[in-house]
Amino acid sequence: MSDPAALFLTRPDDWHVHVRDGEMLRRVVPATARQFARAIIMPNLVPPVATTELARQYRERILAAVPSGASFEPLMTLYLTENMSPDEVAEAKASGMVHGVKWYPAGATTHSQFGVENISRCDAVVAAMEEHDLPLLVHAETPEFDVDVFDREAVFIDRHLVPLVARFPRLRLVVEHLTTRHGVQFVRDASARVAGTITVHHLLLNRNALFAGGLRPHSFCLPVLKREEHRLALVEAATGGNPRYFLGTDSAPHRRRDKEAACGCAGVFTAHAAIELYAEVFESAGALERLDAFASFHGPDFYGLPRNTQRIRLEKHPWRVPDCLGNGDDAIVPFRAGELVKWRLVVEERSAPARVPSESTARFQCRQEPSS
Ligand code: NCD
Ligand code: ZN
Repeated sequence: MSDPAALFLTRPDDWHVHVRDGEMLRRVVPATARQFARAIIMPNLVPPVATTELARQYRERILAAVPSGASFEPLMTLYLTENMSPDEVAEAKASGMVHGVKWYPAGATTHSQFGVENISRCDAVVAAMEEHDLPLLVHAETPEFDVDVFDREAVFIDRHLVPLVARFPRLRLVVEHLTTRHGVQFVRDASARVAGTITVHHLLLNRNALFAGGLRPHSFCLPVLKREEHRLALVEAATGGNPRYFLGTDSAPHRRRDKEAACGCAGVFTAHAAIELYAEVFESAGALERLDAFASFHGPDFYGLPRNTQRIRLEKHPWRVPDCLGNGDDAIVPFRAGELVKWRLVVEERSAPARVPSESTARFQCRQEPSS
């Protein structure tokens, strides 16, 4: 496939996304629904989505935010707490709309304060997940103060995941947002019941991006960006064709004021251009022919869901990402803000002609409050 001008793919899914709630939800769901047929919805709201009933209600709010004419299926998850009962797992599985339980180590990331301090207290729940074949999705970082922030994934894997998969060998486990060579190797060498998602920002950036000419809050996410050698290991994993790695954007919107703050929130918003950015990565690696499998086949195969049959078209047509989405301090600053993305997703919308952000509309969308 030498320098194609257009690329036809199976419509992809996002196996890890944050769409928040309320006004923010209404702003970001259209972007994900435009890009993806389905998405695994992270449950880290406040209060967390910890029961099947809360997941059902959250799913309705997400569906209400899907633009008419778009088809999008939210795949719900529950937030694992030390109070969860094994019956909840049975109910979640029986609902048909909950597809995993998310383990946040308490203190590891945004809204993880309701998460797990000691996973052995969840043994009965994990056993129920193994029995009902409901995947456990893991934020694989240890929050311990004495562990260096760049080592937290590797240490977590050795201390917690290696023993867990030994104790629950039939458990389906997804190591979310892999960021290190160690994580890639853990997934590769584990049983076929273990998989990993890879974000596009971890494929495109290394930790230098955090300090490029000054402190860059919009490149700050958790797990934090790592050294170049780890980025290269992720690119090799994503583009290598192994079915145990698949697309999960971890698109995580925060308001600009919460990012550009003395204690800025972790999270990068990529939902506006996700598949185009992944196409850039696969093209640079000379592996465009493997993008379809990574973005559209490996995920549903692992989760036991049918592959999508719709197709999408990407054109080699650079476009400029808006400086921000929304107004002033409430705006979201998207990944690549103000810069070019090489590929463009062409969506044949039923109700309106496809609209591509141009430089002029991009600037117009960004109405900043006058500075005093
Ligand atoms: C996520 C968020 O903001 O909810 N942030 C992030 O940096 N990825 C939480 C998470 O997935 O860690
Ligand atoms: Zn996340």
